[in-house]
Amino acid sequence: MDQERLLRELSEFLRIPSVSTLPAHNQDCRAAAEWVAAELRRLGCRDVEFLGSDTHPVVSGKGPDVPGAPTLIIYGHYDVQPPDPLAEWINPPFEPTIRDGKIYGRGTADDKGQVFCLLKAIAASPRPPINFRFLIEGEEEYGSKVLFDLLKREPQRVRADAVLVADMSYVAPAWPAVYTTLRGLCYAEITVRTSKTDLHSGEYGGAAPNAHEELCRLLTRLKGEDGKINIPGFYTPVKRPSKAELAAWKKLPFTEKDFLQKRVQGKALVGLKKYSVLERLWALPTFEIHGILGGFTGEGAKTVIPAEATAKVSMRLVPNQKLATVERQLAAAVQRFAPKYVTATVRFLHGADPAQIKVDHPAFTLLGEAFKEVTGRASVPARAGGSIPVVPALASAGAPVILTGIGLPDDRLHAPNEKLDLKQLWDGIEVFRRFYELLGESR
Ligand code: BES
Ligand code: MN
Ligand code: MN
Repeated sequence: MDQERLLRELSEFLRIPSVSTLPAHNQDCRAAAEWVAAELRRLGCRDVEFLGSDTHPVVSGKGPDVPGAPTLIIYGHYDVQPPDPLAEWINPPFEPTIRDGKIYGRGTADDKGQVFCLLKAIAASPRPPINFRFLIEGEEEYGSKVLFDLLKREPQRVRADAVLVADMSYVAPAWPAVYTTLRGLCYAEITVRTSKTDLHSGEYGGAAPNAHEELCRLLTRLKGEDGKINIPGFYTPVKRPSKAELAAWKKLPFTEKDFLQKRVQGKALVGLKKYSVLERLWALPTFEIHGILGGFTGEGAKTVIPAEATAKVSMRLVPNQKLATVERQLAAAVQRFAPKYVTATVRFLHGADPAQIKVDHPAFTLLGEAFKEVTGRASVPARAGGSIPVVPALASAGAPVILTGIGLPDDRLHAPNEKLDLKQLWDGIEVFRRFYELLGESR
């Protein structure tokens, strides 16, 4: 492998600030799509197309036809999360930099570095006998609407022998994984209004309602100090993992102490104390506040009673919960918990149903073999706390969706100083190269 050339090419991709949630970056998302399309053409793909959007298109393409060979859909995303807070990055987020055998930059692990692996693994081999189909999207970090709509219009696009998704990490260093569930997501803004305009806090304070105070109270009614979410009906469909699954998690190299000290780097863990941390992360739903807007937050001091306050919140959903139901439940709970004298509204931004994947198809065994040959250990089944909205749609035609990845748990996805270990990158190319070969031979 010409590692220097590969790093140059990956850096080109990483330098494009394709932040899908910020309209100011629409042109950059388009540029990242062009980068992917050029790469597919270089691999000899035909019918390379931009579908569904001018600014955040799904890049689709077909590898050379190999009659009789299995069809494999390669899924990934070229969009990234916003890089803020910028001051915390050691190198600027879109100026990829190598230090201590790691490449730092937004998108290194999520997901440009992994898309890069999947594609370079094809170039690295004598052509694997596989009919490749590519669906590389540009809106994963904002709910995947473009790809959802495409698959609704053209459901035959997910007909294949398998779908390969590399957008996650090992469960621990040297422990590659395949994932059996992903959590879903329900992202919303809750707005509270208490008066027509802001009011002088001396003239009115003590008698007029305060939007921030009302919003805080509302939020703490939705989720209590004990970590329990008090939205009526919310937990009803949630099932506990089987005894066998809980026992299998105990064998993973995960300790709650290390999770607190090395990963969270805080002083204590929170949440529903009667469940293990892995169960809280993988098998229970959440309610998180991402940010609160409104009132006076500028420099200095202003004595005002804010008339309006908005919280950005999201809930992670677990198997058997339904996005549509949870949306109704949240809207009803907000009306129920807000006092009569405030106007409370909920606006839904995006969401995803949870996904559940059976890992008994032979393709999972082949990936396990590839991991074993390259890293010394076969992939183990695990669950994931994160979401990939389009996975249930990718599974809708019955093809096994292989959820895996080459990142490590400390890659700092969505956070400052996101990185990818170069060893993971080189191993990753080798693993997928070998997997394509094994899959190709399996017919
Ligand atoms: N690659 C992640 C999903 C992920 C992360 C799965 C860690 C498993 C472990 C993906 O890019 C992601 O961040 N998805 C968003 C989706 C959302 C914005 C709809 C997420 O989970 O927040
Ligand atoms: Mn991702
Ligand atoms: Mn992400």
